[in-house]
Amino acid sequence: MSEKKKDTIDFGYQEVPVDEKVKRVAGVFHSVAGKYDLMNDLMSGGIHRLWKRLTIEQSGARAGMKVLDIAGGTGDLTLKFSRIVGPTGGVVLADINDSMLKVGRDKLINSGAAGNIEYVQANAECLPFEDNSFDIITIAFGLRNVTDKDAALASMNRVLKPGGKLMVLEFSKTNNPLLTKAYDFYSFNVLPQMGRVIANDSESYRYLAESIRMHPDQETLKQMMANAGFVNCRYQNMTGGVVALHTGIKP
Ligand SMILES: C[S@@+](CC[C@H](N)C(=O)[O-])C[C@H]1O[C@@H](n2cnc3c(N)ncnc32)[C@H](O)[C@@H]1O
Repeated sequence: MSEKKKDTIDFGYQEVPVDEKVKRVAGVFHSVAGKYDLMNDLMSGGIHRLWKRLTIEQSGARAGMKVLDIAGGTGDLTLKFSRIVGPTGGVVLADINDSMLKVGRDKLINSGAAGNIEYVQANAECLPFEDNSFDIITIAFGLRNVTDKDAALASMNRVLKPGGKLMVLEFSKTNNPLLTKAYDFYSFNVLPQMGRVIANDSESYRYLAESIRMHPDQETLKQMMANAGFVNCRYQNMTGGVVALHTGIKP
């Protein structure tokens, strides 16, 4: 029996109509797109680069592979994959938000990215690609913002090739009470202020902190991936669980 879909959903700590969340998430990323990379470096002290490097190292990407970087935003992972898969492979940088996509495309072109990148505006919940198209799919710090996460996981499963790997890099739950206390203080007191000063937008960074707390924890997300049809689902905590990298294979 199928479950009745909810009419409302969390947007940070607020419960809003489903369509409203899509609009508000779009508003967040239109607003922060221009300062997104700078804020990432400042907020994480550059550690997001390490989390992303680890993701690439564990991806198993090789020359000739096809990679989808969904919710790819400003393209950090796309750029790295593009260099690995080379001219015989390809990377699709896909994002629902045209402001993020534009900042990403300009950045990659300025960094001399290879011609093996395609830019596609797409919603993770209904990916506009053929079945069994990709060897690897990454979604980094994106799933948290997606309204229907189960639909997104199912859509990623559909477009992955059998044997292909899904990698979900996302903020998660810390497991050390002291770290949690310091992290909460930082998230709710420092981040919105930083957002106000640097990006002239404290609300978007308050949403960031709240949306992290509302996101499924490590075990729940692992189960959601299994429910969507992935096997060998596992996760690795980074920085004490501030971030977790979940992986699963399409059988
Ligand atoms: C925090 S950014 C992450 C960008 C990049 N992956 C990174 O790690 O730096 C989240 C991205 O998810 C995108 N996004 C949100 N909802 C989405 C959806 N339903 N489908 C595709 N992308 C989405 C946003 O537009 C934004 O670019």
